[in-house]
Amino acid sequence: MKTVPVKLFAGRGYFIKVGAPLRDLGRNLRPFGLSRTALVVSDRPVARRYAPVLLRGLRQAGFRPALAVVPSGEAAKNLDTVRRLYREGVTARLDRKSAVVALGGGVVGDMAGFMAATYLRGLPLIQCPTTLLSMVDSSIGGKTGVDLPEGKNLVGAFWQPKLVWMDLSVLKTLPPREWRTGIAEVVKYGVIADPDILALLEKVDLAVFRRRPDLVEDIVARSARIKARVVAQDENDTRGQREMLNLGHTFGHAIEAVTRYGRYTHGEAIAVGMCAAARLAGRMGIFSKENVPRLEALLKRWGLPCRVRRPLPRRKILAAMARDKKAYAGRFRFVVPVRWGEAKSLSDFPRSALDKVLTEIGI
Ligand SMILES: NC(=O)c1ccc[n+]([C@@H]2O[C@H](COP(=O)([O-])OP(=O)(O)OC[C@H]3O[C@@H](n4cnc5c(N)ncnc54)[C@H](O)[C@@H]3O)[C@@H](O)[C@H]2O)c1
Ligand SMILES: [Zn+2]
Repeated sequence: MKTVPVKLFAGRGYFIKVGAPLRDLGRNLRPFGLSRTALVVSDRPVARRYAPVLLRGLRQAGFRPALAVVPSGEAAKNLDTVRRLYREGVTARLDRKSAVVALGGGVVGDMAGFMAATYLRGLPLIQCPTTLLSMVDSSIGGKTGVDLPEGKNLVGAFWQPKLVWMDLSVLKTLPPREWRTGIAEVVKYGVIADPDILALLEKVDLAVFRRRPDLVEDIVARSARIKARVVAQDENDTRGQREMLNLGHTFGHAIEAVTRYGRYTHGEAIAVGMCAAARLAGRMGIFSKENVPRLEALLKRWGLPCRVRRPLPRRKILAAMARDKKAYAGRFRFVVPVRWGEAKSLSDFPRSALDKVLTEIGI
């Protein structure tokens, strides 16, 4: 097991445990001074496989946990489901020291996290991420929330967990497409902060990962460390450091929105977005153009796209990018690589450079 600390302002913080068996969570909650009642939130595919072992461990440690199962998928990440969770909280007799345990991918984590942030004005939250994406990204850093019909993650709160507990053995049932989505975020960490990650991903593939849990643990811990460091520097996303985690995301979110979240997974969309960002930086002389083929080869190796599969209306992509939370006063702003392991925010570039990049990625 590896432990990664998240050190926040004014002595606050928590630990991320990488390679921590679900059955052991219960007895590791003793130091937190929690009530006996607790609510485990999960979605159906995850609950069916992994809730029993987690619940057993909680009961053995003296807890009386209730289980709330929500529908799986982004479509369920809304206020209606949260309302149901509040009612489950009432039924489970949660009090202000009762833990909410999120067992699942980012959808469950974001939603259970938001419920924990708001029910009784805030309950202790434990994240047990079960997808690669949620392990390396969404379970760390305290962003919680739900979607509105008008857009993703429009309602939310910053609510840091008390503990992040990652049992890597659950990844054995993760579908390959979900693996790839997580790998896209791992590539992002490699590009913005840790070129060793890129070197490792160039040597292995999914079949190797399935045989070598030590390598998975290494890559998850490295990624978690980067996310933890960035979050510690910029907890509420106001100082600029956290923005670096958005490499590929301005393009990627636009691709997801224009295709109505149906054609590309998040990881596929940001893979195209990272290529676009690298190409833009290459055109501007910020990032060496010779680096772009390396990034593309790595993404292809992992089955991730470097350009859109079918042309998309440029007008719509530009409109979606202009609505991005990171666009200021109508100016486009992208995080771009500077060299392997370093990125920066770029808003000063000619429109013609952006147009050429969009053509190159098929938009
Ligand atoms: N809070 C943040 O900082 C942050 C960061 C990135 C993404 N997100 C959010 O995360 C969400 C995406 O998360 P995700 O990619 O984990 O998707 P997800 O939660 O929808 O999980 C993907 C699918 O995998 C299944 N699954 C989960 N674990 C499994 C396992 N071990 N074995 C088999 N199947 C399993 C789930 O049931 C689901 O069908 C989005 O809503 C996104 O907005 C949040
Ligand atoms: Zn992302």
